[in-house]
Amino acid sequence: MLFVVLAVGSVAAAGALFYAWETPIPPIEPQSVGAPDRDDAKRGASLALLGDCATCHTAPGGAPYAGGLAMPTPFGTIFSTNITPDPQTGVGRWSEQAFIRALRAGVDREGRHLYPAFPYDHFTRVSDDDAKALYAFFMSIDPVNSSPPPNQFLFPLNVRLTLAGWKLLFLRQARFVADPSKDETWNRGKYLVDGLGHCGACHSPRNLLGAERTSASFEGGEAEGWRAYALGRSSRSPVPWDEAALTEYLATGAHAQHGTAQGPMANVVDNLSLVAPADVSAMAHYLASLGKGEGRSDVKMPASSGPGRLPQVAGAQAATPTLPADPGQATYTAVCASCHEGDRPLPLGGMRLGLSTAVAGETPTNLINLVVRGIPASTGGTSRPIMPGFGDVLDDRQISDLADYLRSRVAGKRQWDGTAKAIAEARANP
Ligand code: HEC
Ligand code: HEC
Ligand code: HEC
Repeated sequence: MLFVVLAVGSVAAAGALFYAWETPIPPIEPQSVGAPDRDDAKRGASLALLGDCATCHTAPGGAPYAGGLAMPTPFGTIFSTNITPDPQTGVGRWSEQAFIRALRAGVDREGRHLYPAFPYDHFTRVSDDDAKALYAFFMSIDPVNSSPPPNQFLFPLNVRLTLAGWKLLFLRQARFVADPSKDETWNRGKYLVDGLGHCGACHSPRNLLGAERTSASFEGGEAEGWRAYALGRSSRSPVPWDEAALTEYLATGAHAQHGTAQGPMANVVDNLSLVAPADVSAMAHYLASLGKGEGRSDVKMPASSGPGRLPQVAGAQAATPTLPADPGQATYTAVCASCHEGDRPLPLGGMRLGLSTAVAGETPTNLINLVVRGIPASTGGTSRPIMPGFGDVLDDRQISDLADYLRSRVAGKRQWDGTAKAIAEARANP
């Protein structure tokens, strides 16, 4: 018996090791790449924006693509790597083959498995041409000598070989295959949404091992302490999204009936604002085909801000309203209404909250994040909306009463469970 068990066990272990083993790809001489094809590199730059490569591979205040951004995960903290062509600390000695293998199979040049915090489960769909253009772009940028801090994972997750098991279970390496029954724009959109755009990485729920639940695609997920709302037919947006609204929101980060992109979505739309408009509208076209959600028939539309309507100035409401008895409504009237009902223009005018998915959505996370922290003024050149944070002036009780009021009376939905937890989390992670 023992012998049989041992024999079966060692065959299984050998099989696992065989599967887990990836061969190193020899380093190249950095000079041997030559000058990358200019057109390829230019196309690659746009693909890098679609893939948010800079968002993850740049530390706050650091050089673009030089890595070192800390990414907290439920399993430990991982740091993004340097993907500039520096020969010592970046990918300067990586051949095109090694780079493409990393993108599609999550294996580094030396054959080590990479953590799926790098969304290769999506990038695996990228076409040969696009993968090559990305390589040409990364070989064309300035090399930066910089190494990320070591990852902080506990045993056994710090052993990269364990990732082979994760991949066996969850990684389906397959290029995108166009659906001939759909038009070209739809296929382009799906290719970008599922591939480089990795929209599902945030917008789909994950299982206990951190893999996306493909059976529940786009039913809403978590991202860096924010809720990435359900999209498509599970969307909770009060006004259902259509293709035109999606196009405008993705290209500009805002839409009059849907508000503005916040949290990690703000980075996504910053990147999308710089790519070819045709790519953004293709993504919107595909997403719109996933359905609409139910919406609400009774949402108050924003009052038109036609000519002749003067923007309100802070503090210039007609009269101080008498405060309602409901404590949540009282806070709303005293603190929020002047901006959210004033029909002021951006950057200080907020939308009618009855239109916001933050109030109608699946969890209180985003509403609470916004109330506690506000929307900081943009540090870059772009004009962003500004909202003060109220974490210091409202206590937990006032914030949860406010959330209950907005939820039941403004969104017309059942109050959330878990508001207290969301408040504690927003306060703990400023
Ligand atoms: C959501 C965050 C995220 C995005 C988006 C992302 N990466 Fe990464 N990437 C990572 C992390 C984290 C690692 C390190 C994984 C590890 O150490 O196991 C990594 C590793 C890599 C590696 C392996 C480098 C090495 O030295 O081992 C390459 C190559 C790479 N990324 C390229 C890209 C490209 C190209 C894009 C854009 C198309 C991109 N990444 C987008 C997070 C990201
Ligand atoms: C890094 C995580 C992340 C990625 C990647 C991401 N999103 Fe989002 N997305 C979010 C979060 C978080 C929100 C909620 C933001 C807010 O409160 O404004 C959001 C909001 C949205 C909304 C608004 C939904 C609503 O009802 O208000 C749309 C539409 C959207 N994302 C589309 C996309 C598309 C398309 C992609 C891929 C190109 C994408 N997202 C990629 C995190 C992400
Ligand atoms: C000084 C003006 C101002 C005040 C006061 C203010 N907000 Fe805002 N708020 C804004 C602006 C500007 C935005 C961004 C534009 C938008 O998305 O509506 C915003 C956005 C929001 C959003 C996201 C809407 C979306 O889906 O895009 C929510 C939710 C929100 N505010 C809630 C509140 C609550 C609750 C209060 C009271 C505690 C409040 N705000 C007070 C200006 C303000």
